[in-house]
Amino acid sequence: MKTNPLRDPQDRRLPRVAGPCVLVIFGVTGDLSTKKLMPAVYDLANRGLLPPGFALVGFARRDWADQDFAKIVHDAVKEHARTPFREEVWQQLLEGIRFVSGQIGDDESFERLANVITELDEARGTGGNHAFYLSIPPGLFETVVTQLRQHGLTEDHADRWNRVVIEKPFGHDLASAQELQQVVSRAFGSQSVFRIDHYLGKETVQNMLALRFANQLFEPVWNNHYVDHVQITMAEDIGIGGRAGYYDGIGAARDVIQNHLLQLLALTAMEEPSSFDARQLRNEKRKVLEATVPPKRIDLHTARGRYSSGFAGGKQVRSYLEEERIPQDSTTETYAAIRVDIENRRWAGVPFYLRTGKRLARRVTEVALGFKRAPHLPFTSTDTEALGHNALVLRIQPDEGITMRFGAKVPGTQMEIREVSMDFAYGGSFTESSPEAYERLILDVLLGDPPLFPHHEEVELSWRILDPILDYWAESDRSGNGEPSLDSYEPGSWGPKSADEMLARDGFSWRRP
Ligand code: BG6
Repeated sequence: MKTNPLRDPQDRRLPRVAGPCVLVIFGVTGDLSTKKLMPAVYDLANRGLLPPGFALVGFARRDWADQDFAKIVHDAVKEHARTPFREEVWQQLLEGIRFVSGQIGDDESFERLANVITELDEARGTGGNHAFYLSIPPGLFETVVTQLRQHGLTEDHADRWNRVVIEKPFGHDLASAQELQQVVSRAFGSQSVFRIDHYLGKETVQNMLALRFANQLFEPVWNNHYVDHVQITMAEDIGIGGRAGYYDGIGAARDVIQNHLLQLLALTAMEEPSSFDARQLRNEKRKVLEATVPPKRIDLHTARGRYSSGFAGGKQVRSYLEEERIPQDSTTETYAAIRVDIENRRWAGVPFYLRTGKRLARRVTEVALGFKRAPHLPFTSTDTEALGHNALVLRIQPDEGITMRFGAKVPGTQMEIREVSMDFAYGGSFTESSPEAYERLILDVLLGDPPLFPHHEEVELSWRILDPILDYWAESDRSGNGEPSLDSYEPGSWGPKSADEMLARDGFSWRRP
């Protein structure tokens, strides 16, 4: 019998409201918490997706009372929330806001935390359900997770749960990712670990599944018979800002390629999952990551650079080495481009180029499939001079949508073919605005819904792809007599010359979106 979709609890069109619970954020004084997490919590409350029995606990070293923390949340919400401020929503949220001032290495602090949580469980009816969001440097994960375990805050029971949310980077190479996994898995069951890759929370990234698997139009050409290469770009116009402590030593490849770009690659290249439940989706992503290999000639098929001083957006900007707290012998790249190949029937012979960088010409993330030329062009060569390769571009941000580029006849008596675009823009087709990635992901954590969180296997596989490249770069720096083998690039450009050369060698050129 067909189920009534309106009653089907699996129906993803219904608003999914979290059950009563406590969300504890470690690292509430950080940028991520202020700009993304606290505003996302408010936006969820404002959309009616948090239950009345919801509580938010901040944990940090500051000597704050609950009211001080509440003021911080209030200001963060006012400044960064996506939805309008409504006093009644805020007042309701406020009732469940607490702060625990403590050190992560200190038992007593965790005892206080456990007491506050118990008090909230009773006062707010949170049912013993707790999520712990680790918005802290990975070096501190082990201490926090061990403390939580020692204070009885990690076990799952039939009727109540404890979950942990980990922000990237998940390690800095394969070995450290495996160590981290061991630490986390000693305390939490695999169902209770939510690894955040916020790109998966973006509407346009989820739309890649809709585009590929809800339509008949694209799948027939989604393979090496038609596609000749794929470019995945995540470009930013900003520098590293005040994030030297995090960024230096990490660099563009670990910060973005290992997670966001390889996840985009997985969604672009994977086979159709039989459903979108976590197991099936992760399984397909895992298979394609397993088939993805680093370039055989790392010297020819990777490029990296760091920004020099210059002008960006009409303003004079500093070079990477002049940024605050960057050591002068830093070898950290702010731009990285790599080629990978996918060794399976669908993609053999189609290079995937991944690039990311700070201080580039503009902020844009996109996945572009470049198609082969028509095998025969029944025109004179001058007719088709301006005809490029057909392309399908999934515009992830900021101008969300999809573009198809193809040739069309220029009006007139002559036969001249020029490239034109056909566009779908979110803004033009939908009135709803897209939720922020963190709204979606925090809600999914509270609901215990894992499809949008990478599994540890995916994390490991991504390091397996990247590690040989990182090793090669480190080795080139070591053998460079103190001179890093990094190219420099101008702010506002599209990266170092070596990146253009890398594509030119394969007969392609980077898109300039
Ligand atoms: C983060 C990186 O994961 O993504 C940052 O650590 C980067 O370096 C950020 O700036 C970009 O996110 P978004 O959503 O603005 O593209």
